[in-house]
Amino acid sequence: MNLQSVGKNKEEIKDMYNTYFYETFKRLDFIAETGEGSYIIAEDGKQYLDFMAGIAVNSTGHCNPKVVEAIKEQAETMMHASNYCYTVPQVMLAELICKTIGMEKIYFQNSGAEANEAMIKLARKYGKDNFGPDRYNIITAKNSFHGRTLATLTATGQPGSAIQKNYDPFVPGFKYAEYNNLESFKELVDENTIAIMVEPVQGEGGVIPATKEFLEGLRKLCDDNNMLLLFDEVQTGWGRTGDVMGFMTYGVKPDCVSMAKAMGGGMPIGAMCTSAKLALTFGPGAHGSTYAGNPVCCAASYAQITEILENDLAGNSKTVGAYFMDRLKAIPHVKEVRGKGLMIGVEFDCDIANDVKYTSADNGLLMTAVRPSVIRFVPPLNVTKEDCDKAYDILESVVKELVGDK
Ligand SMILES: Cc1ncc(COP(=O)(O)O)c(C=O)c1O
Repeated sequence: MNLQSVGKNKEEIKDMYNTYFYETFKRLDFIAETGEGSYIIAEDGKQYLDFMAGIAVNSTGHCNPKVVEAIKEQAETMMHASNYCYTVPQVMLAELICKTIGMEKIYFQNSGAEANEAMIKLARKYGKDNFGPDRYNIITAKNSFHGRTLATLTATGQPGSAIQKNYDPFVPGFKYAEYNNLESFKELVDENTIAIMVEPVQGEGGVIPATKEFLEGLRKLCDDNNMLLLFDEVQTGWGRTGDVMGFMTYGVKPDCVSMAKAMGGGMPIGAMCTSAKLALTFGPGAHGSTYAGNPVCCAASYAQITEILENDLAGNSKTVGAYFMDRLKAIPHVKEVRGKGLMIGVEFDCDIANDVKYTSADNGLLMTAVRPSVIRFVPPLNVTKEDCDKAYDILESVVKELVGDK
């Protein structure tokens, strides 16, 4: 569907949006009609360099031909069959993912929040099955983000924030420790703690990479106390950090890892993968979902992951990410550039992130603002150095326009 096919203009679409939509996202002022590689092309033909990539989703570029082909083929043969049937895309994808990341079992979901929800449920069940009815507490990190369902919102370590306000009472069994502070996690462990759950790089929290010592310390803490280490790789997974998974960047293997976003190439799919230790925790009836593992989403994901692996997009993420991060340090008012691979946070010395986001969009560059002073770039993983140079030029002129060059 586009403006032409529905016989409407941009203002009519915006009016309809205002009439019918809950405005939980403040929209940018264009209609995303076409996606091509690293660009979104708007209704008026204007091109936007998409360094937001659908919030870390379009990792092989918009409308990657292999992913599009896989979706078309699958949609023509079997769109949905239910999880009572075997379907080929689901099983092929399960094997591809488990073998690639060295995990034993997979459970498909429809989104990142659902993948984390499944991971939380699995950890609780493992605790109760093996150690007794009170062993269900999970420690997460302050400033984390794990999703918007009630359990994942509770797991999100931002008590009192706008995203949590008036959704209480929350799900019992969560405590929050300081990210990158092993002692803070140790202090919260007690006989009822079953798991620790963290992002290898905090995304929404301001693009904060974990230190290697911190994740290694958490691994040991979990091993010493019969606890599970859970990694939320919804944002860091599938090449983003410069390796296939974020945990590979650190050389620290979790017992369970969640994923979504990039794995679907634009189709809604998530998953959690576990080590052998957890292989028997979910049995018949223990969890379920009508759509999870939908054949079209799985076929798209199989094509997307194959593209990432065959073209070494994790390698490109590492090389181009290092190049871009290095260049960004020269932008005026930049206090710090941080991240891993092509997951990059730019912190300014003043609270201009939102203005930078909207003014950059007006100038043809898309990004997100994750803190008042921090913008985040998560471009497609096949982005070129030339595209990064273009993004640099736009950002530099926007910052100069907003706050000058000193
Ligand atoms: C680390 C992390 N976990 C979970 C989620 C939630 O994923 P979804 O929006 O697909 O539910 C996000 C989304 O931004 C995320 O960044």
